[in-house]
Amino acid sequence: MKGEHHAITLRFLAQPTDVNFGGKVHGGAAMKWIDQAGYACATGWSGSYCVTIYVGGIRFFKPILIGNVVEVRASVIHTGKTSMHIAVDVFAADPKTLEFVQCTHCIIIFVAVDEHNSPIPVPKWTPTTAEQIDLEQYAIRLIELRKAIDTEMQSYRL
Ligand SMILES: CC(C)(COP(=O)(O)OP(=O)(O)OC[C@H]1O[C@@H](n2cnc3c(N)ncnc32)[C@H](O)[C@@H]1OP(=O)(O)O)[C@@H](O)C(=O)NCCC(=O)NCCS
Repeated sequence: MKGEHHAITLRFLAQPTDVNFGGKVHGGAAMKWIDQAGYACATGWSGSYCVTIYVGGIRFFKPILIGNVVEVRASVIHTGKTSMHIAVDVFAADPKTLEFVQCTHCIIIFVAVDEHNSPIPVPKWTPTTAEQIDLEQYAIRLIELRKAIDTEMQSYRL
């Protein structure tokens, strides 16, 4: 039901087809997983079809190896009227130990849309735990930072 599930975790193996030229997982593969987990999380929360409107800086902390167990954790951390700010973290572990290490972090924003691609309202996210409140404040600080980035990028929009 919409507004009920605010988080989702995808778990799978990094496959040989995900390889980059250095023999590790391709950054593009990780970006695809982030978008997929974010989409599933936003769609589950809103109960509507959603589109990606913004992907914040993606930070790759550590490489992911082919054959690692990959965990992509996505959660709603802030909602506007039609948008959902989703924190997505990618963890990886050797399947022999299952000791997960954070490899990637980003914030991705989705908008719920109707059949005409017009934005529609989403259920409001109300954080309750200290960690959730902290993450919402983080999302709000990023909105302010993004305004300056958007202004700077506007001159390069063709
Ligand atoms: C998503 C889309 C329908 C939104 O329409 P729009 O007229 O541009 O957006 P609006 O001005 O109505 O804003 C909709 C929401 O997006 C948010 N938004 C707009 N620009 C944003 C930006 N640069 N960063 C973050 N959020 C933004 C608005 O704040 C608003 O959220 P709110 O209602 O919670 O306040 C339209 O931009 C679109 O179709 N984009 C392409 C989506 C797509 O194809 N994604 C896949 C990429 S491969």
